[in-house]
Amino acid sequence: MSVVRVPLIAGNWKLNKTSTEAYKLVAEMLPGLRSIKGIEKLLCPPFTALMAVSRLIKDTDIHLGAQNMYWEEKGAYTGEISPVMLAEYCQYVIIGHSERRVYFGETDQQINQKVRAAIANQLKPILCVGETLEENEAGRAAGVVSRQIREALQGVDIMDADRIVIAYEPVWAIGTGHTATPSAAHTLIQNVIRPTLGSLFDQRIAQNVRVLYGGSVDAGNAGKFFQQSEIDGALVGGASLNAHAFIAIVEAAQA
Ligand code: PGA
Repeated sequence: MSVVRVPLIAGNWKLNKTSTEAYKLVAEMLPGLRSIKGIEKLLCPPFTALMAVSRLIKDTDIHLGAQNMYWEEKGAYTGEISPVMLAEYCQYVIIGHSERRVYFGETDQQINQKVRAAIANQLKPILCVGETLEENEAGRAAGVVSRQIREALQGVDIMDADRIVIAYEPVWAIGTGHTATPSAAHTLIQNVIRPTLGSLFDQRIAQNVRVLYGGSVDAGNAGKFFQQSEIDGALVGGASLNAHAFIAIVEAAQA
């Protein structure tokens, strides 16, 4: 079965950039990003910069995503942002990032509610999964990742499943400069992530869903990840805050 999965390069800006700074950064990236075809390009600035960035990229093929959301559509939930609010600007939303799991105590069950609310509001969820260093060293990566996917995708209709993107981000590789080896990431996707999707949905979904690698991806190492047939792009943190580095990563996906 041969499938074509369009590569996706997503920049996760995390808690960085005011809307003025965001505008500047995107203006700097635009000429380079616009000229690259055949790769889906996605920027995920903080909430307060979504409107500014959406204006700048309006007539381009660059997509916009948020980094988190709440699952309720509206109501008395002070401080939260709903999928309906995001859908005005965004096509994507990152869900279950390890920083949210660790620093804000997000559970698999809450992540499941967010995934389902995103889909119900026409947003494409980028579901982040990945094991900690301790779990990795104990040989538990496969079990952890498989459980995270099963719990996050409970109750998702098979008709919606190919709108999901999975980002495999080993927690120990995020922001540390230590990546997983490209072949280890490839193997985990092939042996754990796609079979889990296959058992939850079917073989077609298992092959169609895009799986990104994330964790210390930069302009120097990105190409080695994209050479792996199971890796369909990257979720980039630190390097996405530098216009030249981010463009170089997107170019590496094109090569
Ligand atoms: P990093 O972050 O590229 O800075 O390691 C990746 C992520 O957290 O998505």
